[in-house]
Amino acid sequence: MKFFLDSADVKEIKELAETGLIDGITTNPTLIAKEGKDFKKVIAEICSFIPGPVSAEVTSTDVKEMIQEGHTLARLANNVAIKVPLTFDGLKACKALSDEGIVVNVTLCFSAAQALLAAKAGATFISPFMGRLDDIGHNGLELIHEICHIYGNYPNLTTEVLAASIRHPLHIIDVAKAGADVATIPPKIFKQLYQHPLTDKGLESFLKDWKATGQKII
Ligand code: E4P
Repeated sequence: MKFFLDSADVKEIKELAETGLIDGITTNPTLIAKEGKDFKKVIAEICSFIPGPVSAEVTSTDVKEMIQEGHTLARLANNVAIKVPLTFDGLKACKALSDEGIVVNVTLCFSAAQALLAAKAGATFISPFMGRLDDIGHNGLELIHEICHIYGNYPNLTTEVLAASIRHPLHIIDVAKAGADVATIPPKIFKQLYQHPLTDKGLESFLKDWKATGQKII
């Protein structure tokens, strides 16, 4: 399973990428706005040290402009993935850009029917938003299961399921069980994945006992 970071914070991405466990990045207009920096410069900078796909989202809602924006963003680096929203025009833009060989991530997916259309439009990634469904009392995980099941029925559909809008570590375990190809994880939740109080407590006592031996390994 691939782990992407859902962030436009260059410093934080750099810090976590040092683990060697980060396979790509997703951004969106809200995450970009939060940084208060030039969009294209931020994407180019992230692409300079992350070899995997870095999603940059178009902001037009018109197919022609979406395609133009997609071309502009794709020129920033060869690992940019163009994010388009799951709308009528977005699907047309996905088909056109994918046909040109550009990596497309179709975002704001909230139903299995939408995911099926994105796959038919040649999307490299489909991004179902789990947390936002949970927020309104729906079942985000059920959607991930449904999409994985449907895509699994048709091996010619190569679109990867990118679980998005992750709210807590359990979401990641659940989507891994469901068979999602990728989870895009906010940095705060990535850190929660490795932190455990019993690990800290156990290490503290091992180090105390080791110190008492007076030995050194190097
Ligand atoms: C995915 O690509 C989106 O950037 C993201 O996961 C949205 O999550 P949110 O619901 O926490 O804003």
